[in-house]
Amino acid sequence: MEKDPIICTCNEIKQSEIELGIKAKNLKTIEEVQDETSAGTVCGACVDDIFLILEKINGNVEL
Ligand code: FES
Repeated sequence: MEKDPIICTCNEIKQSEIELGIKAKNLKTIEEVQDETSAGTVCGACVDDIFLILEKINGNVEL
């Protein structure tokens, strides 16, 4: 598996960009990640993956 896969193919946002954004700004929700990175703002297919990243970093996630 690729180390830093593109999570959001619509906007070409990589996993590392999402993780860095979450850590840097202490993001808690999908909406915050969308505002910060633009990931998940087009077709929405990557929202589940963003959720998993949020969960991995923050433990539990508010929707
Ligand atoms: S893959 Fe992220 S919005 Fe389409």
